[in-house]
Amino acid sequence: MITIALAKGRLAEQTIEILGKCGIDISVFSEKTRKLVLTDPTESFRVIFVKPADVPVYIENGIADIGVCGSDTLLEEDKKLYELLDLGFAKCRLCIAGYAGFDGAKTGAPLRVASKYENITKNYYHEKGENVQVIKLNGSVELGPVMGLSDVILDIVESGSTLRENGLAVLQEICPVSARLVANKVSLKTKSDEIKPLVAKIKNALETVNDRN
Ligand code: PRP
Repeated sequence: MITIALAKGRLAEQTIEILGKCGIDISVFSEKTRKLVLTDPTESFRVIFVKPADVPVYIENGIADIGVCGSDTLLEEDKKLYELLDLGFAKCRLCIAGYAGFDGAKTGAPLRVASKYENITKNYYHEKGENVQVIKLNGSVELGPVMGLSDVILDIVESGSTLRENGLAVLQEICPVSARLVANKVSLKTKSDEIKPLVAKIKNALETVNDRN
């Protein structure tokens, strides 16, 4: 049996849809339920539903064999995992955002950056050689500059509507983000007979979806 860690929400829904295209009976996984562990009728696949940032934790510790999370989460958590595939969905961008025209250099004080991504923020500014104050938030990060808690934010931008509706703009793009299929390194060896065919089927299913678009 392969255990698959999925991030609750849209990422899980899109992944389950792809699993369905791989010939897996996904009826159990698609049920509206509060259950966190679900097994397919053939008992070949078990899905666990976790918080996005916990997907790499379950995989690194070998509790899940494979899983799907955003490349932003992988960058932030920096776990020892094997990246199998860029799934190409859940696309967005990691950006620095704030009030248009904001110039941190003018304030003279260290830049205050609010973010859910503490490590990415520290690394990004460290590489630039800038001394910043990182303010860790857990959501509604756009409130940082709006309420004067921070000068700018480092966050994901998808449609850009949260920024726009709060009077903010992208100041700097950092990198693109998309959903990734990742695996536990030991599982890749011990369960390769199960994981490899599944990865091939997922690749194929993605190509079929992309050909149609
Ligand atoms: C994310 C992100 C932005 C928003 C970007 O938040 O942190 O706030 O989505 O999407 P957009 O560019 O399409 O507006 P999420 O919805 O996950 O909620 P959160 O604030 O609770 O983290």
